[in-house]
Amino acid sequence: MNEKTTVASHDSAGPGYRFLVLDAPHLAAQLVPGQFVHVKVPALEASALRRPFSVFDADGGQVTLLYKSVGRGTVALNSVQVGDGVEVMGPLGHGFPEKCNGVPLLVGGGYGVAPLYFLAKRLLAGGSGCKPILFVGGRTKDDLLALDRFAALGVEIRTATNDGSAGVKGFVTEPLDDVLASLKQKSEQFELFTCGPDGLLKAVAQRAVGTGNPGWISMDRHMICGVGACFACIQKIKLPNGEVFNARCCVNGPVFKAEDLVW
Ligand SMILES: Cc1cc2nc3c(=O)[nH]c(=O)nc-3n(C[C@H](O)[C@H](O)[C@H](O)COP(=O)(O)OP(=O)(O)OC[C@H]3O[C@@H](n4cnc5c(N)ncnc54)[C@H](O)[C@@H]3O)c2cc1C
Ligand code: FES
Repeated sequence: MNEKTTVASHDSAGPGYRFLVLDAPHLAAQLVPGQFVHVKVPALEASALRRPFSVFDADGGQVTLLYKSVGRGTVALNSVQVGDGVEVMGPLGHGFPEKCNGVPLLVGGGYGVAPLYFLAKRLLAGGSGCKPILFVGGRTKDDLLALDRFAALGVEIRTATNDGSAGVKGFVTEPLDDVLASLKQKSEQFELFTCGPDGLLKAVAQRAVGTGNPGWISMDRHMICGVGACFACIQKIKLPNGEVFNARCCVNGPVFKAEDLVW
C-alpha cells in the first residue's frame, strides 16, 4: 500500500535525530512492531529511490518515525514541514512476535530503539503482565534516544555508552549480561529482541542461541526496492533442512529468529 500521508509534527529527538509524525490512518491501523515503511523523500521526488525506516509508533491514526541524518536522503528529509505531503509505502516485512514468552529483554543501539518502543507498547498493552526491560547503547549520551518515552511507559531502562557519558562505560551487553546472570539464578525464562548495528545484533543472537532462549533480530541492510524485487538486501539464513538460503531482508525479514542467521 502506498499512502499519501501528511506531516503532523517534526521535532528534535536529540542532536542529529528527529521524530517525524505522519497522519497516516490506513498504515497506522495495520502496522505491527518490527515492520518498516519505505518513504519517498519529498525533496528527492525525481529519484525513484525510497528510504526504509522502522516504525517507532503507530497509534491514533499517526505513524511516528525516529531517524538519524546520515546522508543525502535523511538530510533532505530534515526539510519537510508540518502540513507537507509524504508518500509512504507499507506495512513492509515481518515484525516481532507480540506474545510474552518469558521476560522480554529489548536491546537497542542508537536509532535501533525505534521498533523496540512500538514493541514495548504492544507487549505492555497485551495484558499478560510481562514487564519488558530495555537495554540501550550508544557512542555517547546523545545516542541514547527516547528514554523519556520508554520511562513514561513504565519500562525499566539500563544504559551504556562507549565514552561513559551515561550509564555503564562500555558495551550495552555488560548490563545485559548482569540481568541474564540474575535471571539464570532465578531460573527465569527470557526472550531477546534487538535492533541496531551488526556487532550488537550478533552479540545478542549468540546469547539467545547460547542459552536456548528465543531471540528476534531485526537486520538493518541497505535496501532499494523494499519489496523483494532487487536482491539488494540479502542475509544468509539456515533452513530447517540445514541448507543455507539467501533471504531478502525486506520480505523475509527484517526480523529473523536468532538461530536461523548465518553470520
Ligand atoms: C529495515 C530498516 C529499518 C531502518 N530503520 C531506521 C530508523 O528507524 N531510523 C533511521 O534513522 N534509520 C533507519 N534505517 C536506516 C536508513 O534507511 C538509512 O540511514 C537511510 O536509508 C540512509 O539514506 P541516506 O540517503 O540519508 O544515506 P546514504 O547517502 O544512502 O548513505 C549515507 C551513509 O549511511 C549509510 N547507510 C545507508 N543505508 C544504511 C542502512 N540501511 N543501515 C546503515 N547504514 C546505512 C551508508 O553506508 C552511508 O555511509 C533503517 C534501515 C532499514 C533497512
Ligand atoms: S530491497 Fe529489493 S529485494 Fe530487498
